[in-house]
Amino acid sequence: MEVVIRLMKDNRTVEEEKTCTVPEQVSLSWLLEQQGSLLQYVCGGNGTCGKCKVKVVFGASEPTASERKYFTEEELRAGYRLACQMKVTQDCVVEVPRQRERMQGLSATVNQIDTVSDRRDTYGVAIDLGTTTLAFALVNLHGGQVVQTYTMENSQRTYGADVMTRMQRANEGALHTLQECIGRDLQNGIQMLQNQFERQMGYRPSMVQVVISGNTTMCHLLQGFSCERLAVAPFVPVTTEKREWEQDGIKITILPGASAFIGGDIISGLTYLDFSSDDAPKLLLDLGTNGEMVLWNGKEYLATSAAAGPALEGGNISCGCASVPGAIYDVLIAGEKSQVKTIGGIAPVGICGSGLLSAISGLLDNHLLDEYGIFSDKVKVSGYSLATTTTGESIRITDEDIRAFLMAKSAIVTGVCYLLKQLDDREKTLQVYLAGGLGVHLPVNAAVKTGLLPKQIKSNCRPAGNTSLQGAIAYLINPCEMNQRMQSICNSLTVLPLNEWEAFEEQFVAHMTLKRV
Ligand code: FES
Repeated sequence: MEVVIRLMKDNRTVEEEKTCTVPEQVSLSWLLEQQGSLLQYVCGGNGTCGKCKVKVVFGASEPTASERKYFTEEELRAGYRLACQMKVTQDCVVEVPRQRERMQGLSATVNQIDTVSDRRDTYGVAIDLGTTTLAFALVNLHGGQVVQTYTMENSQRTYGADVMTRMQRANEGALHTLQECIGRDLQNGIQMLQNQFERQMGYRPSMVQVVISGNTTMCHLLQGFSCERLAVAPFVPVTTEKREWEQDGIKITILPGASAFIGGDIISGLTYLDFSSDDAPKLLLDLGTNGEMVLWNGKEYLATSAAAGPALEGGNISCGCASVPGAIYDVLIAGEKSQVKTIGGIAPVGICGSGLLSAISGLLDNHLLDEYGIFSDKVKVSGYSLATTTTGESIRITDEDIRAFLMAKSAIVTGVCYLLKQLDDREKTLQVYLAGGLGVHLPVNAAVKTGLLPKQIKSNCRPAGNTSLQGAIAYLINPCEMNQRMQSICNSLTVLPLNEWEAFEEQFVAHMTLKRV
């Protein structure tokens, strides 16, 4: 079969075209991956997110049930299909949107913090290995300063937005591909730091160490460990121990985790925050594709995690996107009209997690949505339109988006309530540290209004930044002390699986509304 792939600059303009010969019944998503296209396979190719939309101008296969769910009859007739669902059954011509393909580049930024350094100095790189974002910091090991930072999207996103879909892909035979993918990303990120440094300082930094802090799944995929037992209950990791080796004269350290869901990123963040320096109760809330939370009750660490899914980071939302330039992050709704703010102040391309939260809160305030997540009659059946893209597509919030949000927020708030129940002394003020992709930009008022966070903790929430990266930086600068702290946290941390709480199901169902808690 012959497939012509057209990379589209916009709806009408072809930027690049290539022709490939493939066997019959090949999946279109497989073919596009082979050709280097970075479509977003948020649900891992299960046909449940609608993010891998393409237009087959000629030779489209019969629509599947999933495709019928995502497209109208008219769109199906025009050739719209999901790349993960379509099999090549005849010669065809496929149009792939350029904007999606370039998502990775859009989010990459370089940030210079400090350039105090000396040619004799040695450097290390701290890395926060996130499911969505990779954050890098170049550290002068002599003076302990961070001299460059760099962030980029994890290009494994094209294999699924959350850890469960990535593990599914790995267990279906793509482990080696996923390992190569993340290895390449790390090399690229480190090179970006070095290049930037060299441009500014006139010489290349001499690197001796890399410290990586990541969730347990990402660390498995990086090391090529099997995820067979990690992906299914009782979720057994190959290891969560600290791992160290030397490669090309550079010492590589992967920081230790505590369990399948309380990984090295959380332990690194706790080590940096040092909750146990006093007995005041504190809570770390790391909100991303998974919600991880750890309570320090003055004596011990108690941790749990909630499988929120990608909705709070814009995944599984019909017009959702990551926190890239153009993502709507704030919404003001007055009556039936809305005003939006986007990252970078450019034309809107979609809605990210904080935008979704802010929009739902505004819809509630304006009685366009009720506490059970039902739109009022004033809202069209197709959903509430927030804005329009430059190509005229409406960025809207639909019934299904509200349901996805309710599932995600219910998981998170149930987890938080479970940990709050463990506090003996309710009179003491609980300090809450917000971290993770959504956590640091969380609109706290909207989170309380929609029932994502209990109102009891509202006044004591503070953004804590990227605590995982800060912990890795601290480890580079002071490995002995940080190692001791990490070991003592791992020894005094108890994981309380949320699904083993006898009230879990009852609480989860009770929180499937937009009522304040
Ligand atoms: S619908 Fe194709 S990747 Fe989700």
